[in-house]
Amino acid sequence: MSDDLTAPEAQSDELAFEGALRPKSLTEFVGQSKVRGQLQLLLTAARMQERTPDHILLAGPPGLGKTTLAMIVAHESGRTLRMSSGPAIQHAGDLAALLSSLVPGEVLFIDEIHRMARSAEEMLYLAMEDFRIDIMVGKGAGATSIPLDLPPFTLVGATTRSGLLPNPLRDRFGFTAHLEFYEDAELEQVLSRAAVLLDFEIDRDAIAEIAGRCRGTPRIANRLLRRVRDYALVQGGRADRDAVRAALELYDVDELGLDRIDRAVMSAILTRFDGGPVGLSTLAVSVGEEADTIESVVEPFLVRIGLITRTPRGRVATPMAWDHLGIPRKRAAGTQQALFPDDL
Ligand SMILES: Nc1ncnc2c1ncn2[C@@H]1O[C@H](COP(=O)(O)OP(=O)(O)O)[C@@H](O)[C@H]1O
Ligand SMILES: [Mg+2]
Repeated sequence: MSDDLTAPEAQSDELAFEGALRPKSLTEFVGQSKVRGQLQLLLTAARMQERTPDHILLAGPPGLGKTTLAMIVAHESGRTLRMSSGPAIQHAGDLAALLSSLVPGEVLFIDEIHRMARSAEEMLYLAMEDFRIDIMVGKGAGATSIPLDLPPFTLVGATTRSGLLPNPLRDRFGFTAHLEFYEDAELEQVLSRAAVLLDFEIDRDAIAEIAGRCRGTPRIANRLLRRVRDYALVQGGRADRDAVRAALELYDVDELGLDRIDRAVMSAILTRFDGGPVGLSTLAVSVGEEADTIESVVEPFLVRIGLITRTPRGRVATPMAWDHLGIPRKRAAGTQQALFPDDL
């Protein structure tokens, strides 16, 4: 999302960094205690019965730990992990090739599963339920379908948009985990752990400052930690609270953790649409971003910290939003008066 991460080089650096910091087991995985408990039970029961664990769907905004949990599922159940993603499965044939090459008991991870081709989705229903697929051979009147038995496997699907998954697919997962944004105390744990792994000496209150500004997201926490480390390295000073403030100001991350895109969205709602309501696609066009990015990345966090609310008529800024962005409120449209009568 940030400017500094658009270069391919920066991305691969980020990937290497993420790989190094990824927790390998459920006990190392910070926060999400409910989901952790549920997964632990599911995996232990499967182990006791010597069967493959049920199919698992992991839903939530980017950077909250879906890929990490998929790896942990494979690791904790002592199975190998096969990784693929929705966009890579454009035809039923792509999925057939993937499924027919699975090793018995393997964990198949499909990231961004909502972006898989429709024809593949149908094949996946049968595969998940009966460990079987039908492969079509030939075309037209002469076409026949050849059934193919699959080895037992566990599907782990990840999605930032569980609402886009067709019900029949969603229903075939034995367990769906909804990952939530992390609390500050949990993010401090994530950061402390990362600092130790990176051998980076940083003050406790500096960690707290980063935790409060990382959009409730471990991936962003780790990324900001890295920026602060760069800053301390170049400036040669202590990694204290002031260093964090200076570094984050340099990277356009404000006290609530809003970055450039978050603020562009907020200021569009406030100044161009008088606080809303404004529809998602109109908003996306006005800030030059994909509607999907706004809906899955930007909006969930803005809603969670109370800067916008979703109404049937569109997104509406809350009174707090005007204050935070420092934009004076105009006496505006009837809808606003109706929504916040005592605040005008
Ligand atoms: N619960 C957690 N505890 C510690 N680190 C985490 C946790 N969740 C995510 N991370 C860190 O954040 C990074 C991004 O997590 P990832 O699983 O790739 O997110 P997602 O797949 O949901 O986008 C990981 O590399 C890991 O370092
Ligand atoms: Mg991921």
